[in-house]
Amino acid sequence: MDHFLYKDGVLHAEDVPLAEIAAAVGTPFYVYSTATLERHFRLFDEALAGMDHLVCYAMKAASNVAILKTLARLGAGMDVVSGGEYMRAKAAGVPGERIVFSGVGKTRDEMRLALAGGIRQFNVESEPEMEALSAVAVELGVIAPITVRVNPDVDARTHAKIATGKSENKFGIPIARAREVYRLAADLPGLEAIGIDVHIGSQLTDLEPFRMAYAKVAELTGVLRADGHDIRRLDLGGGLGIPYSRSNEAPPLPTEYGALIRETLGHLGCEIEIEPGRLIAGNAGLMVSEVIYVKSGEGRDFLILDGAMNDLIRPAMYDAWHDIVPVIEPEPGAEQRPYDIVGPVCESGDTFAKQRMMPQLEAGDLVAFRSAGAYGAVMSSEYNTRPLIPEVLVNGHEFAVIRARPSFDEMINRDTIPEWL
Ligand code: LLP
Repeated sequence: MDHFLYKDGVLHAEDVPLAEIAAAVGTPFYVYSTATLERHFRLFDEALAGMDHLVCYAMKAASNVAILKTLARLGAGMDVVSGGEYMRAKAAGVPGERIVFSGVGKTRDEMRLALAGGIRQFNVESEPEMEALSAVAVELGVIAPITVRVNPDVDARTHAKIATGKSENKFGIPIARAREVYRLAADLPGLEAIGIDVHIGSQLTDLEPFRMAYAKVAELTGVLRADGHDIRRLDLGGGLGIPYSRSNEAPPLPTEYGALIRETLGHLGCEIEIEPGRLIAGNAGLMVSEVIYVKSGEGRDFLILDGAMNDLIRPAMYDAWHDIVPVIEPEPGAEQRPYDIVGPVCESGDTFAKQRMMPQLEAGDLVAFRSAGAYGAVMSSEYNTRPLIPEVLVNGHEFAVIRARPSFDEMINRDTIPEWL
């Protein structure tokens, strides 16, 4: 069910016309649909029904506290990868026992923060990290629950920059070394190894890599149990992909993914944890931008938008495709023409799409980037001293600004001038 539809000729977020939000907050902005966030969370939750499970939203995808609260009130846990994300999860009211700490380079300060505030488990990625966590836990007089993230050496068949499960990637410990690493965990004070963690990559559009990785985890569970470790929780990571274009074949659904989990791991009697990010937030958000100029170049026309690569970096960084649609519905059968769609930032990489077929547009028209809810606002920057753009959350007929656009003064006054100047 798509909650971004044309109604009366205008693209809406649920029941709110995007032109109304643009008039209220200015462009560019991000807008999220509560109904979509909720629906996507429930799809995963229901896909694992009947198994002891927790869906821990990978909040790196979209971490506004209002989004976290929307999910937390449905019972979501959170997958965090930094002290800042941990604090955001706490600010959203998520209890420590529903927060999982992932990431290849947790600092001792981050470990202290999470151990003091409460944590479900740390997903540990190396022996040095394990030794550091052991020392911090002993210092605080607590036991840190851990899983070890194993690298199953599986090709996730996704973009190289977001594949994480091959042996050459920096993530996890080689699965072949798992037994010795769990032995180390059992020997170190302050740690309790309760499970296994795996995450092989993001934007997976095929279930086979998951199947291969989860089969290896199932086998390892048996081996570690035989070694005397009480493996009772399996964290299976995130990574299920989304359709970025309505013309492409759709990736597998959460129900199919849930069935695969049941099939490969259901017999082990473990509690299942998953960490989806993109599928929950990606198609729950749009970026809306205004055409500033239409410029005729050599053999091509440029749509110059007020949104830029600093606001949505995915096209520049991963050559990612986002559907870009006019906010005012084109007449049926309206003529389409190719445009290069670019932002105002001073580099050629600030290009969202080349020779994209669009109905004719003019300065002042609004366009919406679809599938921009995940890895959109969170990856934005102030490059070119462009203020971070506002985030808006829609819920039925209502909308609220959930992060305001900072003023120039707010941006500039964060800089401090040394006394010698
Ligand atoms: N768990 C771990 C340990 C992860 O590293 C990630 C994503 C997830 C869960 C969530 O994966 P998802 O369900 O969202 O695929 N910026 C890139 C994506 C980077 C993903 C990083 N890790 C992009 O815009 O495509």
